[in-house]
Amino acid sequence: MCGACSSGYPVIGEIPWLFPEPRQALAEWRGRLGFLTQHLASEATAMRASLAEGALEAGTRRRLEHVARANEDQIERLRQLLTPLGLDQASIAETTHQGLGTRLPTEQGLTNYYVNLHRDWSWGEEENQAALNELRTLLGNLDGLGNVLVQGAGAGRLAYDLHAASDATLTVAMDFNPLLLFAARELFAGRPVELYEFPIAPRSIEDHAVLRRLAAPAPARPGLELVAADALQPPFVDAAFDTVVTPWFVDIIGEPFARVAARVNLALKPGGRWINFGSLAFSRAAHAERLSLEEVSAYMPKAGFAGFESREASIPYMRSPASRHARVESTISWVANKVGPPAETPRVRVLPDWLMQPDKPVPRTPAFEMQAISSRVHAFLLALINGERSMRDMARVLVEQRLMPAQEAEAQVRLFLARLHEASESQ
Ligand SMILES: C[S@@+](CC[C@H](N)C(=O)[O-])C[C@H]1O[C@@H](n2cnc3c(N)ncnc32)[C@H](O)[C@@H]1O
Repeated sequence: MCGACSSGYPVIGEIPWLFPEPRQALAEWRGRLGFLTQHLASEATAMRASLAEGALEAGTRRRLEHVARANEDQIERLRQLLTPLGLDQASIAETTHQGLGTRLPTEQGLTNYYVNLHRDWSWGEEENQAALNELRTLLGNLDGLGNVLVQGAGAGRLAYDLHAASDATLTVAMDFNPLLLFAARELFAGRPVELYEFPIAPRSIEDHAVLRRLAAPAPARPGLELVAADALQPPFVDAAFDTVVTPWFVDIIGEPFARVAARVNLALKPGGRWINFGSLAFSRAAHAERLSLEEVSAYMPKAGFAGFESREASIPYMRSPASRHARVESTISWVANKVGPPAETPRVRVLPDWLMQPDKPVPRTPAFEMQAISSRVHAFLLALINGERSMRDMARVLVEQRLMPAQEAEAQVRLFLARLHEASESQ
């Protein structure tokens, strides 16, 4: 309970759930993870349908059977791990999730955080050691870390290794993804977890889905704690930590660097240390926010930090033994000491009233108006597909309805249908 406002915060699956809107966050993650199990199920169904059609090469049959079985088994494993979220209460259909734009928590790609689980706990020590060594080299030694906050701790391995290798009194591993947190909880307790890895570029048929045994070298020593929270709305009082670690975090959080630095500053006690590790890949940020190391270094005094020291190194990254895909990352690590307050105070993200209170009217903003128009056009075009109309027929209707000038209609209908076809093929 919050003593000041009496708001309650649950403990879910033994992990304090410290989001400002705990129920909203629970509904969001339940929906996302429910969508993930639905997605795995519909993929398995599609594979089984291909198998039933017959006329497949023996290897292809073996692969589809293997991956379909793995998907079905993974669903059970996820359900079990995520029991505290109440996945059985997620009853929204997969198509509705697609319509609502729900994002899968394990989307394939280079920024897939699910794979971090396997990198952290099942591929061997190479990458984990490389990360810890970088921090050890940067700092000279791992003494005097005190109370440590690891922001965006993911599957938790760096937090675990730092806690084990240092004399940290308390290490708080914070993330907002309950799948990673629940797995980390088991691993920190010395209980192995079995989950499938689905590599990006599998080496063999069996490598398309690999059942991995995730395990920590030993149970974590006391003082390593997990917290589910949003780093943009952190649940800690100011100056609670002696050390804040941001591993592979500052460039993915989606906030201007000045605000990220200010939040780190506020979390630290005077004289506390900010340790950063990872990349500076701000490619999706606004142009002025795509900082290079020189700009980061120059900004530090304004953020209230002194003694900035940095290192660069090439380390192996996301090298699954089952995948032909692997990276080498040129990482940047830095350490800096808090010497004063930040020039800019990070703003709390304030959501509008109509999003906070279910009975407030939702305003029709220009952006919503635009979305509504484009969705209407989209729905209108989809409704024209009745199994009888040709592209020309559809174009004629659009012209009659004054939705498009005659000279463009046919080309636009074709473009729309081509995109639709492409999307359905890729699904
Ligand atoms: C690139 S991953 C790095 C994970 C981990 N530090 C590592 O090195 O493997 C970024 C992590 O930040 C988490 N994250 C992203 N935005 C967050 C937010 N607003 N609050 C809390 N965690 C967040 C993600 O769930 C993910 O685990």
